[in-house]
Amino acid sequence: MSDGTTGEQRSSDRADQHDTNPGIPNGWFAVAFSRDLIAGDVKPIHYFGQDLVLFRGRSGEPKVLSAYCPHIGAHLGHGGRVIGESLRCPFHGWQFDGDTGSCVQIPYCERIPQKARVRAWDTVEKNRMIFVWHHAEQKPPSWEVPDIAKFADEDWSEPRHFELEVPVHMQDMAENNLDPIHFQFVHGMQMSGETNISFGNEGRFLTATTKNEQDTPYGKFEMELITHTWGLGVSSVETAGMPGVGLYMFTSTTSIDDATTVTRWLMTATNNMVDLAGEEWFKGVTRGVMDDLAIWTNKIHRAEPVFCEADKLLVEFRRWCKQFYSSPEQQTETQK
Ligand code: FES
Ligand SMILES: [Fe+2]
Repeated sequence: MSDGTTGEQRSSDRADQHDTNPGIPNGWFAVAFSRDLIAGDVKPIHYFGQDLVLFRGRSGEPKVLSAYCPHIGAHLGHGGRVIGESLRCPFHGWQFDGDTGSCVQIPYCERIPQKARVRAWDTVEKNRMIFVWHHAEQKPPSWEVPDIAKFADEDWSEPRHFELEVPVHMQDMAENNLDPIHFQFVHGMQMSGETNISFGNEGRFLTATTKNEQDTPYGKFEMELITHTWGLGVSSVETAGMPGVGLYMFTSTTSIDDATTVTRWLMTATNNMVDLAGEEWFKGVTRGVMDDLAIWTNKIHRAEPVFCEADKLLVEFRRWCKQFYSSPEQQTETQK
């Protein structure tokens, strides 16, 4: 039976229900898997509420520039062409250096105007992902994306890739990591162990460890679920406890805008168990996120949630998140 509203009306009602939208956080965020960009590729991308262009220079390095040409505004990602380490505008051929964003050549004019530049975004490629540093005040990176040794370790399997876009604020998605109670209700899993959290790198990194005794076909083990978080955008979940056996998931969660998020995962298992249980685990984890999807797609962001006494971890998570936002007055970023 119709409730008399259109789908469009309903989604705008949901947008109106958000308390204060926290905006887009500062930090490192993946904008692509490495395998999706070969040398010479140019892609229009949209993250942090901004139109951007991602390309791979001939040296193999990925670069990200703001999308619109300072000349008369063509989108560099639609028809732009890689020339060495720079990108040529499809409209009149102005060429922009991928590292600085400066115009390095105008094919029909000697003198290059000083203002002929686009914003160049700090970009780094690690762990089979391409990361961009977003800072609403345009401050330079204040920490590094970690190197995950497992991705180069022969004892670990080739990782599975997984990507999902969800109409939810990115913080609400990241919050899942420190929400043991929802496992029971959303995923039908009991998480009985205590979770301990600790901080590193001036409080920007957070580690949560949950111990659980588990019966496995190989005996009883004290299993540990270890979640590392490097800023709001990058995290990992490791299952450890059986000697020489491990499951590992590396994820990055990125704001497309302040109400849409994309998450990318790499999942790997030790070779000695990948044939026995790896595929089931990979499938189980990706199936699990589909349970969360219904909640995320329909929830609002509560800036002032009502917490109960047992919600200590969520309270802690919210407090930790605050450092990654610039206040609206501080923000210097504009869409150009
Ligand atoms: S709009 Fe880019 S060169 Fe003219
Ligand atoms: Fe979940």
